[in-house]
Amino acid sequence: MFGGGPTLIQVKNIKKSFGATQALKNLSFEISDSEVHALVGENGAGKSTLVKIISGVLKPDQGEIFWNGERLNNYNIRIAMNLGIRAVHQEIDLIDNMTVLENLMLGREKVSSLGTLDYKQMKEDLESFVKSELPEIPPLDKIVKDLDIMSQQMVVIARALFSGCNLLILDEPTAVLSDNERNVLFSVVRRLKAGGTSVLFISHRLEEVFLIADRVTVLKDGEHVSTLSTAMTNSEELVRLMSGREISELYPSEAKKTSKQTTPAIELRGYSCGKCTDVNLKIYPGEIFGFGGLMGQGQEDLIRGLFGIIPHSGNVLINGEIVPIDSVKSAIEAGISFVSANRERESLVLCRSIRENICMPILHELSFLGIMRFSLEKARATNMMKLFKIKANSPKTLVSKLSGGNKQKVSLCKSLVMKPRILMLHEPTRGVDVQTRFEIYRKLREIADDGIAVIVVSSDTPELLGICDKIAVFYEGALKGILKGKQKREDILMALANNQKVVMED
Ligand SMILES: Nc1ncnc2c1ncn2[C@@H]1O[C@H](COP(=O)(O)OP(=O)(O)OP(=O)(O)O)[C@@H](O)[C@H]1O
Ligand SMILES: [Mg+2]
Repeated sequence: MFGGGPTLIQVKNIKKSFGATQALKNLSFEISDSEVHALVGENGAGKSTLVKIISGVLKPDQGEIFWNGERLNNYNIRIAMNLGIRAVHQEIDLIDNMTVLENLMLGREKVSSLGTLDYKQMKEDLESFVKSELPEIPPLDKIVKDLDIMSQQMVVIARALFSGCNLLILDEPTAVLSDNERNVLFSVVRRLKAGGTSVLFISHRLEEVFLIADRVTVLKDGEHVSTLSTAMTNSEELVRLMSGREISELYPSEAKKTSKQTTPAIELRGYSCGKCTDVNLKIYPGEIFGFGGLMGQGQEDLIRGLFGIIPHSGNVLINGEIVPIDSVKSAIEAGISFVSANRERESLVLCRSIRENICMPILHELSFLGIMRFSLEKARATNMMKLFKIKANSPKTLVSKLSGGNKQKVSLCKSLVMKPRILMLHEPTRGVDVQTRFEIYRKLREIADDGIAVIVVSSDTPELLGICDKIAVFYEGALKGILKGKQKREDILMALANNQKVVMED
């Protein structure tokens, strides 16, 4: 077991229900001083609900919370803040139209003697903090909505760290971070721990749990299953405890049918968009084609351009014919579908039901003479929910009520329901649990076997190597090479990603 330091925070017999859903059932759990404690469990196990209770955002229906052995009465978010509890919640909660600086200073603004906001002083304070603690965060004067999701996540982490903390809670912070940012975060966590801060860390990537945590607690269906020292357990045991199943074959096989078709599903000729410049490539039906390397090298711009979100130059050929893609509508009409990494902002309508979200792209198929056929809508949504094992009471459940991983599944269903010819996914397994991740990989292979071209942009290199038939690697906007066959190796991918010379296969 972990060194057995004194307990910092303890929750006892916590119950929390949302309507008929019992998210936490009589849960007891504790975090010691100066420990990194991981929390794992399947989608919907209750992890984020526990985070919200510990950080005072949600009130439990029943149960007690103790801090350094003392019971906290009328616990709320203010008490949590005063105790030095800082949480990075699962969904990014920044204000889009404000700058990085304004977001970081929200609620702790400095005011000058004239009563106006003292931007100069705030900037000075933040600059020295950023320099010493988190140099990777984006420039302070950038507007948040102009940042990619990884930079936004770094701002959220910076906000939690800025005023010092005794307990840092990180709810799936790495789901959208690249290796570099993740390493930066982990060195911050190690430094905090050495300085006496405790950290509660949630991730579906079990290798991260073993990299950073002293102990790990497994939740299942709102109940505490086990707390183990990470030195005394392994991934297989954790998966068994989380799901009651074994991880069998993890990644699906390579493309079964070698495509006989000579016409690419999509071809780019002299394609430039945002940071990516002069890209020429062909992607065939039945292929899973990845874009890898360091993030922010042009690959995200490329897929956003292909979905008509940002303008491009050069030609896009679909099934051998030039198709002008100048809007999202034209991309959808060309049979392109896109799963954004930013599901809450760009994919889902949170205040609508699962059913409405899934069926949104096919309303024309589900209505007759302008009248919606709700029975058809229900049947399609129920079918997709079953296929992806979405955990919810009914198709009528609002998407805002779902756990993070289940939201991701709805986002995937929405992009598949229209039966695209080209499916593009950005961080497709963001926030989904281990078992579901491999179910999604298998589904992607099935989809490709049906003749769809699948394009995946992911910061998770093992994921790309595991599922893709070919992987294109970018460096500063240029396509440096396409890995396939025996060349699909992490060392070769990283060499290309760092602009080193590699002899490529034909
Ligand atoms: N505001 C809410 N209203 C209704 N149900 C909710 C609400 N928040 C959570 N739930 C339900 O409580 C259960 C636990 O959800 P929670 O978000 O804690 O899961 P999680 O372990 O964090 O999952 P994930 O790995 O997908 O993030 C789920 O069934 C979820 O649908
Ligand atoms: Mg969660």
